[in-house]
Amino acid sequence: MAAQHSLGSRETPHSLRILLPLLLLVLSSIPQVAGKVPSSNSTDGPTDILRFINPLIGSTNGGNVFAGATRPYALAKPVADVDGQNTGGFATDSSNVVGFSAAHDSGTGGNPSLGNFPLFPQVCPGDELNACAFRIGDRATPYVGESVVARPGYFALDLASGVSAEMTSSEHAALYRFRFPAAAADGADEVLHPLVLLDLTDLWKSRQNGSVSVDAETGRLRGNATYLPSFGAGSYVMHFCVDFFGGAVHDAGVWVNSRAGTEPKELYVTRGFNLFYLEAGGWVRFADLADDTLTARVGISFVSAEQACARAAEEIPEPLGGDFDRLVREAEDAWRDKLSPISVRPGGASEDLQASFWSGIYRSMISPQNYTGENPRWDSGVPYFDSYYCIWDSFRVQHPLLSIVDPAAQIQMVRSLLDIYEHEGWLPDCHMSLCNGWTQGGSNADVVLVDAYVKNLTAGIDWELALEAIIQDAEVEPLEWSYHGRGGLQSWKGLDYIPYLDYDPLGFGTNSRSISRTLEYSYNDFCLATLAQGLGRSDLHDKYIQRSMSWQNLWKEDQTSVIRGNDTGFTGFFQPKYLNGTWGYQDPIACSALAGFCSLTSNPSETFEASVWQYHFLVPQSTSTLIDWMGGDEAFISRLDFFHTSGLADISNEPVFSTVYLYHYAGRPALSTKRLHTYIPSWFNNTNGGLPGNDDSGAMGAFVVFGMLGLFPVAGQNVYLISAPFFEEVRIANALTGNTATIRAVGFDPGYENIYIQSVTVNGEPWTKNWIGHELFAEGWTLEITLGAEESEWGYDVKDRPPSWIGASRL
Ligand SMILES: *[C@@H]1O[C@H](CO)[C@@H](O)[C@H](O)[C@H]1NC(C)=O
Ligand SMILES: *[C@@H]1O[C@H](CO)[C@@H](O)[C@H](O)[C@H]1NC(C)=O
Ligand SMILES: *[C@@H]1O[C@H](CO)[C@@H](O)[C@H](O)[C@H]1NC(C)=O
Ligand SMILES: *[C@@H]1O[C@H](CO)[C@@H](O)[C@H](O)[C@H]1NC(C)=O
Ligand SMILES: *[C@@H]1O[C@H](CO)[C@@H](O)[C@H](O)[C@H]1NC(C)=O
Ligand SMILES: *[C@@H]1O[C@H](CO)[C@@H](O)[C@H](O)[C@H]1NC(C)=O
Ligand SMILES: *[C@@H]1O[C@H](CO)[C@@H](O)[C@H](O)[C@H]1NC(C)=O
Ligand SMILES: *[C@@H]1O[C@H](CO)[C@@H](O)[C@H](O)[C@H]1NC(C)=O
Repeated sequence: MAAQHSLGSRETPHSLRILLPLLLLVLSSIPQVAGKVPSSNSTDGPTDILRFINPLIGSTNGGNVFAGATRPYALAKPVADVDGQNTGGFATDSSNVVGFSAAHDSGTGGNPSLGNFPLFPQVCPGDELNACAFRIGDRATPYVGESVVARPGYFALDLASGVSAEMTSSEHAALYRFRFPAAAADGADEVLHPLVLLDLTDLWKSRQNGSVSVDAETGRLRGNATYLPSFGAGSYVMHFCVDFFGGAVHDAGVWVNSRAGTEPKELYVTRGFNLFYLEAGGWVRFADLADDTLTARVGISFVSAEQACARAAEEIPEPLGGDFDRLVREAEDAWRDKLSPISVRPGGASEDLQASFWSGIYRSMISPQNYTGENPRWDSGVPYFDSYYCIWDSFRVQHPLLSIVDPAAQIQMVRSLLDIYEHEGWLPDCHMSLCNGWTQGGSNADVVLVDAYVKNLTAGIDWELALEAIIQDAEVEPLEWSYHGRGGLQSWKGLDYIPYLDYDPLGFGTNSRSISRTLEYSYNDFCLATLAQGLGRSDLHDKYIQRSMSWQNLWKEDQTSVIRGNDTGFTGFFQPKYLNGTWGYQDPIACSALAGFCSLTSNPSETFEASVWQYHFLVPQSTSTLIDWMGGDEAFISRLDFFHTSGLADISNEPVFSTVYLYHYAGRPALSTKRLHTYIPSWFNNTNGGLPGNDDSGAMGAFVVFGMLGLFPVAGQNVYLISAPFFEEVRIANALTGNTATIRAVGFDPGYENIYIQSVTVNGEPWTKNWIGHELFAEGWTLEITLGAEESEWGYDVKDRPPSWIGASRL
């Protein structure tokens, strides 16, 4: 996460469609590294494409990725939870393990998310129950760094206590194997009874009330608790059901604070009047463990403990009968299947770059999470996805990536967003754990919907309903606009900008970000106009296409930018404007890395999580107008260069993504590629700290994937900007149309000296535009890019630049 005027309508070369003769493709005989290859049964992990997936990328240095075992979009996500950088549960930051829990989000910022009902295995010293460590601070145990194994569908590590833990998962349940140190190794002859506790906490310690009951015969633990969403409003209830296998129950009970007992067998805990956080849960001790190993099956559900038990038993029926290995293989196969549309001929590109690429695709399929059948609030038969965390991050490249590699899933997500609109009354801007998350800027679900529309991902989607939902965002101000809709609509409609210190008596939200909201609302309105036009509503199109030019109202043409007394030499920036039309002031470098961070709560400003410098490049509907205002191509390029080299660009946050490629709009696509190579791999690479910031549910991963493909999506438009790929050839099959697109680099050089496009053909015919549409994927075109060591004229002509809406010039 971590942000008008009368127009002679004219569109630059947007809809020129050249009918290309389809040439028969001569299939290359050189083998490709493909997503679909036979399973391996090696215990050392797969030797096929999955070996390129490194779930530990971004597991420290703020990436906050989920590094544990999961399946594509699955609810169950077991991993070791640490007391360090634990937003996604685990981190390779040498902190301590405090439990093993089965639900997580990935890459998010702010508060740690989920991590509910952790189990913790240990042996009580002297076999004395109350000598065991129950509270989080007491039980925290270092892990052995070299013992960490993370791969698709499997996670393992050893604790310094000698307990080792392995885990895998089905869709809704986790399976753990805990191996305890042999009693003899403890230096004692006494019989020890290993203990596993369940804590009613979550990573954020947000639990309100919670219940646990333990069955003294079987050791089954069941219960539920109410928690707070990590970046949203309201609360949610989660349920669990834990069954143990591999030994006999010795004794069982509950614990509170640092004390445990065998009676009672159930417990209800709540927050006291002062919200005091009581640590509590259940525990079971075991005898006669075969091979000192205990297997624990954890079902989780948002519906009921019964459903958690039933689904766990259905998905993992025989935990001791080889189900662990079966589940790992199934998870691997599920990932192979998801990756199977893509194949790469690396052409000598390093294994590290391939790992960044495949791991980026992998992470973009960890969330959103498929909670179909797990929504306690309604069941409309429509797929239900959650952990849109947050759309402000994911609309730019993550959803566009899914539209290419898993369009059927993207369609389900669009349907689920519309289903949320129908049942909650609004499209979400962020959504997690069945709750609404905070809005960061505009109503960017609008962009996700329209992006699917312009790419013909339309099957089963009610576009009239989509139009209704987006118009509501554009026209109706919600009372509470912190978590849906848009605030300040009265001013937006009357003044065509969001004023600095707006007077907004109609609804309530954080009254900041007037510049970034003005820009995002403008683009949201552009997307609305696009959909309206597609649906034959030219009246609506005309209205919103005008509003999409409202960004112009905050352009202050004489505004300069000075850094530590040094004038940058650039004039003309966005500035806040009061209701009465008088300019306010925000230093253009404020909220950049040079001048401190701004979020919703920390130092709220007129731009969100980035500076005026960052936002003044973000007018994706009319970049050519922006270029004119900045003084033309050369001046625009100087600004971009200055932005990227002065410390103003923040590569760790999503608004920066498109700025890497904006050179295309000034006719200099070579400079986009050159700029991209300054960020990959030096900021995105195959190391534990190999992400510059929060992965944000795979947004950073998707940026890397597009960079390496040689395409950058302009979300909400049928436009991909063409740059030099990092691989010799990539093919992507489209599951909806059955066609396969090929992106091939001629003159490919893995040393990346030849990164400048000399010429391009599509299906053998010359292609002069520096961008291409989604037809590439839908119709399975062959994009052949000839590379050289020097910049060429390719893509320079004004007619070959990406589309920009040109409204009337400024008032
Ligand atoms: C997989 O198992 C088969 C049969 O047990 C064995 O022959 C083969 O070598 C194994 N493959 C790997 C990669 O371990
Ligand atoms: C738990 O607390 C929530 C509010 O925090 C309340 O709505 C719910 O009814 C409580 N549940 C139980 C079982 O007490
Ligand atoms: C939570 O669990 C307790 C104890 O099993 C049960 O009485 C209660 O109804 C459950 N609450 C919900 C919301 O399912
Ligand atoms: C989500 O889960 C439902 C129910 O299992 C299934 O029908 C649907 O295909 C899943 N969606 C994806 C994208 O896997
Ligand atoms: C969408 O479908 C229309 C009508 O068949 C076609 O003209 C257009 O090229 C398609 N767009 C894409 C992105 O495939
Ligand atoms: C001011 O800018 C000039 C030219 O870019 C540079 O040489 C100089 O070091 C800068 N001074 C400060 C104080 O940053
Ligand atoms: C407009 O409002 C601002 C903020 O209240 C104020 O400082 C400024 O003087 C006003 N301008 C005029 C022309 O009244
Ligand atoms: C990998 O990326 C991280 C995070 O952006 C960066 O700090 C590190 O220097 C990079 N490592 C290499 C070898 O480029």
